[in-house]
Amino acid sequence: MKKNQLLLNFAVNSMKNAHAPYSNFKVGAAILADNGKTYSGCNVENISYPCGTCAEAGAIAAMVADGGKKIVKIIIVSDGNIMITPCGACLQRIKEFSTSETEIILTKGCEEIKTVKISDLLPLAFEEF
Ligand code: THU
Repeated sequence: MKKNQLLLNFAVNSMKNAHAPYSNFKVGAAILADNGKTYSGCNVENISYPCGTCAEAGAIAAMVADGGKKIVKIIIVSDGNIMITPCGACLQRIKEFSTSETEIILTKGCEEIKTVKISDLLPLAFEEF
């Protein structure tokens, strides 16, 4: 079995439950947190479009509600034929719970293709005030 296959399967199972009737683009995310537990989420759209939420937001909310503090790894999958990368808002959400070691695992067609750090996707992030 590939290194991140269980986390990937978890994300894919969540993705299958996505509510995406407006974009027809299903997304799933799964997190391995610092407490050793895993959490998943999917995009949940709404007829009032701005009310929709991203898969990453759901997974992060589940982690925080259960006491997880940091993301060790997050994997994102979609049912589209593109490499799925987190949107800008989700990069900021991931940043909040990342360390310099956090792995962001990107996929295409539900196959792992690239692992990056938050600093690769969100350099010069707003983090202190
Ligand atoms: N989407 C996510 O769930 N995560 C992302 O990082 C990118 C976009 C969702 C939002 C919307 O439901 C659909 O994909 C199309 O934008």
